[in-house]
Amino acid sequence: MKTALIILAAGKGTRMNSDLPKVLHPLGSAPLLAHAMRAGATLAPEHTVVVAGHGAEQVRRAALEQDPTVHVAEQTEQLGTGHAAAQARTALAGFDGTAIVLFGDTPFVQPETLSAMLAARGAGHDVVVLGFEAADPGRYGRLVMTGDSLERIVEFKDASDAERQISLCNSGVLACDAALLFDLIEATGNDNASGEYYLTDVVGLARARGLKATAVTCDEAETLGINTRAELAGAEAAFQARARAAAFENGVTMPAPDTVQFALDTVVGRDTVIEPNVVFGPGVTVESGAVIRAFSHLEGCHVARGGIVGPYARLRPGAELSEDVRVGNFVEVKNAQIGPGTKVNHLSYIGDATLGSGTNVGAGTITCNYDGVMKHRTHIGDNVFIGSNTMLVAPVHIGDSAMTGSGSVITSDVEPEALALARAHQVEKPGMATKLLQILKARKAKQQRGS
Ligand code: UD1
Ligand code: CA
Repeated sequence: MKTALIILAAGKGTRMNSDLPKVLHPLGSAPLLAHAMRAGATLAPEHTVVVAGHGAEQVRRAALEQDPTVHVAEQTEQLGTGHAAAQARTALAGFDGTAIVLFGDTPFVQPETLSAMLAARGAGHDVVVLGFEAADPGRYGRLVMTGDSLERIVEFKDASDAERQISLCNSGVLACDAALLFDLIEATGNDNASGEYYLTDVVGLARARGLKATAVTCDEAETLGINTRAELAGAEAAFQARARAAAFENGVTMPAPDTVQFALDTVVGRDTVIEPNVVFGPGVTVESGAVIRAFSHLEGCHVARGGIVGPYARLRPGAELSEDVRVGNFVEVKNAQIGPGTKVNHLSYIGDATLGSGTNVGAGTITCNYDGVMKHRTHIGDNVFIGSNTMLVAPVHIGDSAMTGSGSVITSDVEPEALALARAHQVEKPGMATKLLQILKARKAKQQRGS
């Protein structure tokens, strides 16, 4: 079945009390909107339309970052969910298939649930709504059913006391033939308690035309919508719990899972160990059999098989570690490719650099990549030994099998197999240490006599 997604994301999110549009608040280091888009993307839709309003430019950028093929439609005035969905009409002109409406602030809808809704469409239902049994139905819209047939949705504000007793609630997710959906929305009015064009009214309108509507149900946790920062924090906890469970399923070892933070797109291979207090920012892939030791922070990086990272390591965007690389404690790596088996074990900064294989970088080494104006690269070959506390002033090349002496400030290229020493010669003054101490003692004695 051909599908198109319409993701509603124009609302202000007043209760977030924020300058940032609600759908851009991060959950698992990704905007809320990205979660809904990702769930929808599992259906391989022909089109995805994001309806933006508040902070439209920011929302547009975030949507395109997540999926460059997305259409962004603008809803300049927030006149209700029906009016919002109608803004997708132009983008979907000529599309012949099922439109699925998702909310940008509802991140946990599962792919299987959307598939179940499409299956209900395939079974001949014109409109399929995702409902859930609410523990506390509160102000949700209520689904009025007759057997399997969904008769209409009534918003809480418009519901009678009897209707408010219904515990089967509307999640907001809806599937309907696209052309029919726009047609039905056109027929909605705003003569209701909120003065809004309700998307939910399409159900009653469809039934009045003798069309079939039904509800598919899911767990309440899936339909959780974010309205406040407290709910966002609760959602983060739920997201992390799911991500940790998924990591266990995928064969990852975590002795203290509650202390590990994942991002929406984190990928961790089988038999990898993640020690306590590791944080994954966006864009991290760790292959099989690696160890990410305690208190490490990774973002936008790749760790190949057998790598050992940390404890207390920081991998920043563009850090590419080949197989069996070691990056030890208090080492920061940014925009650098590190070849197989190379070790950077202690207290170093490796930025804007390419390192070959089998190289050993001594403690306290710094790639001086920034001259205050421009960034420059450092190239280090294979089987190089960089002595402790070497400053590599980029741009600079260190040839294969070369060495640098400890404490060197390397400003020129080093030939393969050469030893480069670039530090001041040591000067020794016999007896000077004792002499200095005697001078100091004499001064103190004089001061005491004077006071
Ligand atoms: C909606 C449903 C309600 C359901 C509830 C589930 C309607 C009329 N009501 O109510 O039945 O139980 O969700 O959470 O659909 N939006 C726009 N433009 C608008 C209005 C809303 O883009 O003009 C977007 C919002 O950004 C949000 C989503 O639509 O992502 C839902 O809007 P919201 O105002 O929160 O709807 P509810 O009143 O919660
Ligand atoms: Ca809402």
